[in-house]
Amino acid sequence: MCGIMGYVGKKQAGPVILDGLSRLEYRGYDSAGIAVRDDSGDVRIVKAAGKLKNLAEMTQNGSSLEGTCGLGHTRWATHGEPTQTNAHPHISLNEEEHSGAAVVPQVTGVHNGIIENYQELRIKLLRHGYRFYSDTDTEVLVKLVDYYYKKYKVGPIDALAKTMVRVQGSYALAVMFADYPGEIYTARKDSPMIIGVTEDETFVASDIPAILKYTQSIYYAENLEMARLIPGQAIFYDLNGDIVPKTPQIAEYSADSAEKGGYEFFMLKEIYEQPKAVRDTISAFTPDGEVDFSAEGLLPDDAKNVERLYIFACGSAYHAAVLSQYVFEELAGIPVRVEMASEFRYRAVPLEKNSLAIVISQSGETADSLAALRKAKEQVLKTLSIVNVSGSSIARESDYTLRTPAGPEIAVATTKAFSAQVIVLYLLALWIGSGKGRMDRERCREYLEEIRQIPEKIEEILSDKTKIQWLASKFSNAKEAFLIGRGIDYAVSMEGSLKVKEVSYIHSEAYAAGELKHGTISLLEKGTLVIGILTQKDLYEKTLSNLIECKARGAYIAALTGRGNSGIEETADFTMYVPETAQPFMGSLALIPLQLLGFYISIAKGLDPDKPRNLAKSVTVE
Ligand code: M6R
Repeated sequence: MCGIMGYVGKKQAGPVILDGLSRLEYRGYDSAGIAVRDDSGDVRIVKAAGKLKNLAEMTQNGSSLEGTCGLGHTRWATHGEPTQTNAHPHISLNEEEHSGAAVVPQVTGVHNGIIENYQELRIKLLRHGYRFYSDTDTEVLVKLVDYYYKKYKVGPIDALAKTMVRVQGSYALAVMFADYPGEIYTARKDSPMIIGVTEDETFVASDIPAILKYTQSIYYAENLEMARLIPGQAIFYDLNGDIVPKTPQIAEYSADSAEKGGYEFFMLKEIYEQPKAVRDTISAFTPDGEVDFSAEGLLPDDAKNVERLYIFACGSAYHAAVLSQYVFEELAGIPVRVEMASEFRYRAVPLEKNSLAIVISQSGETADSLAALRKAKEQVLKTLSIVNVSGSSIARESDYTLRTPAGPEIAVATTKAFSAQVIVLYLLALWIGSGKGRMDRERCREYLEEIRQIPEKIEEILSDKTKIQWLASKFSNAKEAFLIGRGIDYAVSMEGSLKVKEVSYIHSEAYAAGELKHGTISLLEKGTLVIGILTQKDLYEKTLSNLIECKARGAYIAALTGRGNSGIEETADFTMYVPETAQPFMGSLALIPLQLLGFYISIAKGLDPDKPRNLAKSVTVE
């Protein structure tokens, strides 16, 4: 989704802002813009449709804009086409300006989120003489701030507070006022925003990687909170205009962690970071060699008392939930209901008491997942989140948070965060299973030992990628692919299929193997790629016979299975083996070749796997 980057300090703001925006590119966008204010009070705005490099060329990497205070934005279009005019920043003047000429609008702003009642507010502002040059809700928001500022003759904080009371929706808003040189004002509700400080500079951004190069000293803006940013200082206010005391936290990421570190693409780097991400996750939740979540506030009695799990998530996090369902059933023996957060939020599902609601989200900001969390809370369920970004909205609003220490994930397609989520879910299953007496200590230790060996086994898979590269180049021009499996293998198919489709643009579908012949098999033609995942011993023969059915209809069969199953070669045209681990955890290994497959098809097609078209890393709108 949109990315915000603002700077006030001693440096020239333009290059710093452009640099920050480039580190937010992963969030997804289709236009970009920048506004820098010089010492005389003039604001220069430049906007460009398309990639950030267009904006960088138009501004000589930001250096053509003079001034030490400014705002930048990458826009992922919601209201209005991704045009230059609709790009942010927006101004309170009736005419737009995006050529770098000097203007002096009272309010200049950038926004991430959606203002739901913008049509009604637009009509109100039209009545008061405002005119609109764009189709955006953001222009309405900026003009509403201007309207309250002038009508009530109040300061920026009061004008923002009045605006916040009036608007409905979500926003991370950063504005400059003509009357307040060298200052940026922010307001936030349900859209991510962080503020970083050094001794003499202050930054505002949508995410930490934008400013890690400059500072690790971070404030997390809370919901319905405003801030005044001056060089080296951020002062926070609540809706009443009272100061909220706050101390900055030190970001747990190093500046290097958000760099490519010698890899050409973040996606590949992150695929290769999985052994570490998994290792760090295991260590984080087994402090004395046993699964222990007490540091997160979860005590053994909590495990004993939980009777049912509800898990809510979107996209890959949803697939992690589906995969975990089988593991919870097997190891913990409790009922699990997995729901897509976007569906659950509008249904009247009665939730049972003594249940734990789990929300999984890499970013911790996915709007639908956040809404599902709130809905579960309304029904007085205890909530637990599994997130990769500390300080994120979902982490802050849940009763317990298990943070995956996977480090910043920049590629749009998740890999290492997914693997870390799955490990947390395995550990939770062990914790509940042993807490409820479903398995004895010895069994739990054996499983834990298997989990501890997963990183090494992932390393082994990653050490030889030639076969997968071959398959990727053979099918790089394929129109479609099917991934099939049963049980855990079906969950792996779902995530593998998403990896393939989102970065390679091949239409790829995951099917429960037994469902194929209820309709989908009619799509198979000579040469259609069918990838069978067969890691589950008790389901092996069943899936194998489904693959034979596909082969009989001319499909090209690629099989992904555990080392012991060499008999598959009689049926499959291509075979990929992964090391064996305990059956419930095979998904962690089987997924790796499929991540590589998606990546290498994308490369073979000359695409950018880090930034697939139309996608955003963090989906903060419904
Ligand atoms: O940040 P979240 O985990 O909540 O994001 C959920 C989905 O948007 C995300 O997993 C998405 O499906 C990725 N593009 C998958 O690679």
